[in-house]
Amino acid sequence: PPVGSMLNLDDFERNAQNILTDQAWAYYSSAGDDEITKQQNRSSYNRIWFKPRILVPVGQVDYSTTLMANVSGADTKVSLPIYISPAAMAKLGHPDGELNLTRAAGRMGIVQGISANASVGLDEMLDVRKPGQPTFYQLYVNKDRAASERILKKIQDRGCTAVMLTVDAPVMGKREADMRAKGEVVETGGGQGGDPTTSGGGVAAAISGYIDPNLSWDDIAWYRKTCSLPLILKGIQSIADVEEAAKRGVEGVVLSNHGGRSLDFSPAPIDVLIELRQKRPDLFEKIDVYVDGGVRRGTDVLKALALGAKAVGLGRPFLYAQSGFGEAGAVRAIEIIQDEVERGMRLLGITSLDQLNPDMIDILPRFFD
Ligand code: FNR
Repeated sequence: PPVGSMLNLDDFERNAQNILTDQAWAYYSSAGDDEITKQQNRSSYNRIWFKPRILVPVGQVDYSTTLMANVSGADTKVSLPIYISPAAMAKLGHPDGELNLTRAAGRMGIVQGISANASVGLDEMLDVRKPGQPTFYQLYVNKDRAASERILKKIQDRGCTAVMLTVDAPVMGKREADMRAKGEVVETGGGQGGDPTTSGGGVAAAISGYIDPNLSWDDIAWYRKTCSLPLILKGIQSIADVEEAAKRGVEGVVLSNHGGRSLDFSPAPIDVLIELRQKRPDLFEKIDVYVDGGVRRGTDVLKALALGAKAVGLGRPFLYAQSGFGEAGAVRAIEIIQDEVERGMRLLGITSLDQLNPDMIDILPRFFD
């Protein structure tokens, strides 16, 4: 089908299921155990309803924003409050792999999160950036700290904007669809490198063996000694850990459960965001709060921002979009969300994102509240 026939992000997912190899589909779509968290990541957005205002002039709307506005030297202007969540192995879906995402992010003015397990070489990705194009590098800390130190030096020298340190996968979740699928693994080029040969345990098992399961809060001191880039902890799943992160002075957190791929029955990130807004509204001033998992619509983006998120990440939608259509697919996916955000703002009666606040939404109780 032509890329222009894709009207929403789910269209890209259906198309990807038709064209991907069984192994690639299993790797991209799978999640932990019974995939209850993966489903809940999306369905919890249905708890949130709007309180639209009418007869507001909405001819002109501005959906640009600034990330890390309070971190000196790292403030990052983006055209839209979304970013590409770092997700591995884009080449399983398209020969240009992550280069599609780097180019699309540059063209559309959003941040790309580069996965530690990207299937394109790190330099190659950094080379195709536009001048000044912001990138977040996602780190998995290697059992061999010297290997991680080399990567951190490199991404600092090459002008990355921040580091997203992933903390929700000391071991992989049990992703049975991925474990069952057979096939050859594409060699990783993201810098850390795993064992590129298939192990019979699925793609994830083959690329994650180097990750240190003994990482702890004390390693933040190691990070600060090694790298001067702002630190964003990706994979926070509780209010207590947002509090701990703020206490330890990290610049940002991503409320995330790895798209449901780690612990099944970890809460939906949007539910954690609701709880954070209710219990610790003060923390939104201290630390940038991001959220990912199950974001598929412009209205999802507006809901998260109304609760205080600075931006939201999308993972699978970009893998699916580039699988079907390369760079043009990734650009189209961003345009779709942009259109939905703009339309949503107008229908809600706002003209800039800073007008979003908790009074514009209604939150229904969870069934077990
Ligand atoms: C991921 N994710 C991920 N996260 C990370 O920190 N490093 C990584 O290498 C990967 N790899 C990866 C591969 C695939 C196939 C998926 C689907 C996801 C998690 C990703 O950054 C993000 O948290 C989720 O994808 C968000 O959920 P949605 O948008 O996919 O629902």
